[in-house]
Amino acid sequence: MTDLSDLMKQRYGTARHGMPVDGNAVLASLMTHRSVRAYLDTPLPEGTLERLMAAAQSAASSSNLQAWSVIAVRDAERKARLAEWAGGQAHIRQAPLFLAFIADLSRLNRIAQAQGVAHEANDYLEMFLVAVVDAALAAQNVAAAAESMGLGTVYIGALRNQPEKVAQEFGLPPYAFGVFGMCIGHPDPSKPASIKPRLAQPAIVHHERYDVAAQSAPIAEYDELFKAFQVSQSLPTAGWNAPTATRVKGIEALMGRHTLRAALARLGFRLE
Ligand SMILES: Cc1cc2nc3c(=O)[nH]c(=O)nc-3n(C[C@H](O)[C@H](O)[C@H](O)COP(=O)(O)O)c2cc1C
Repeated sequence: MTDLSDLMKQRYGTARHGMPVDGNAVLASLMTHRSVRAYLDTPLPEGTLERLMAAAQSAASSSNLQAWSVIAVRDAERKARLAEWAGGQAHIRQAPLFLAFIADLSRLNRIAQAQGVAHEANDYLEMFLVAVVDAALAAQNVAAAAESMGLGTVYIGALRNQPEKVAQEFGLPPYAFGVFGMCIGHPDPSKPASIKPRLAQPAIVHHERYDVAAQSAPIAEYDELFKAFQVSQSLPTAGWNAPTATRVKGIEALMGRHTLRAALARLGFRLE
């Protein structure tokens, strides 16, 4: 039995009455997650990628189609290009391993072609979603596995800033798209990352039917909690609500990704 009370407190800010605190090592490892953006030079132990990929491929997959691929990047110059396209994120250069997760319908096309059958379904949004969901599930298994091994990770959604450059860099065939990346490395202990609190469960978790009203109080509380977290991290105390609203206000918040649909069309996805 592992006592989760301290992790519960870090995740939700306060000791929540009625929350179970008995857990196990897996729950404790999942709840200890924090994104890591500062890495040591230390190379990853031999066999790390193979272990992480075995964890990734152990994730569930829609109809077992396994509609995802991954590009493992260690080359410094390639990481530098990817970092630049991702808005200059230095941790991409610093991490010994960068994984680009690919929503990949191209393999399914080739399998159909080899059998002389059409692959019309891959022109529909549904199959694009299948591939993106498969990639995300695999990636989250990688993150959980890496963290269980004492490594740090951070997702890189900014891989979508320049989807066509990324496709060209990796030599992706049509119907394949770099949906996000992930940096992996040994966390730099001189720049430790903290557990970031989340919304209280009533803002997220509904019982039987969706409840809008139940969310108001926890959202207001979270804004205050997040301000306190920002103070503890010496960050500007903007809270959570205002930056979150700004993040959805207009297309400028999409950092160029408002053209993604057109880019996807050029990468072969028709999204019918
Ligand atoms: C799909 C996805 C894309 C993300 N993209 C980036 C990114 O490009 N750069 C970055 O520094 N963090 C990125 N993040 C990390 C989030 O900012 C982070 O998970 C969030 O602030 C919560 O913090 P925590 O992971 O430390 O709990 C991304 C996370 C996800 C899930």
